Amino acid sequence: MEKKFLYEGKAKIVYATANPEEVVVYYKDAATAFDGKKKGEIENKGYLNAQISAYIFKYLEKQGIKTHFIDLIGEREHRVKKLEIIPLEVVVRNIAAGSLSKRLGLPEGTTLPLPVVELYYKNDELGDPLINHSHAKVLNLATQEEINYLEETALKINKLLVEFFSSLNILLVDFKLEFGRFNGEVLLGDEISPDTCRLWDKDTKEKLDKDRFRRDLGGVAEAYLEILKRIKEKA
Ligand code: C5P
Repeated sequence: MEKKFLYEGKAKIVYATANPEEVVVYYKDAATAFDGKKKGEIENKGYLNAQISAYIFKYLEKQGIKTHFIDLIGEREHRVKKLEIIPLEVVVRNIAAGSLSKRLGLPEGTTLPLPVVELYYKNDELGDPLINHSHAKVLNLATQEEINYLEETALKINKLLVEFFSSLNILLVDFKLEFGRFNGEVLLGDEISPDTCRLWDKDTKEKLDKDRFRRDLGGVAEAYLEILKRIKEKA
């Protein structure tokens, strides 16, 4: 397929295609954490995340969630609809971990009585701060209607993914979503993978996600491969 370099991010490269409404996203092996302060490479991560994310987007589409995903090309590329990205990260949490544990003093592993939804302003210079609805509107990041849609859709996706991962004997601790505008609609964008979710084995509580990289736990690629293996076994 004919493609032209558009943009390189921390974990992906985006290419323009002959169709102005579509782009190709290439998943890299590069890994970063803590606002890019920690850098590394996870062997085959691009392949593993492209495959895992493709399965999950197909599953969500089947369940009626509108996403940017069109198809998987080869090993580590997605053909997707070109979105006007909404600069918000929508995080949903079922179990306390990471920044929620730190901010609210809830020990990691505490089951939350209801899912928590949070908005973060996607801004590297500011370190992606947690914001509320008024902040998002004052900064003109999204309309109230869009914010409502993002939060409702994120909770819907949470229900679907909790079930999906549960059938793989995995606890969905938390995850991050990004959305964008396309022809008057808001679609789910970016990726859903062990880079963007916390995933724990239900029995052992072993971490099968990027926290292995963030916390130098070792066995990072093996954990990502384990997720793909369980998805494939079920598919
Ligand atoms: O760090 P924190 O606890 O706020 O992360 C919550 C969830 O969002 C985690 O699953 C993490 O992997 C994901 N996340 C992400 N990209 C970011 C920030 C968080 O995928 N920039």
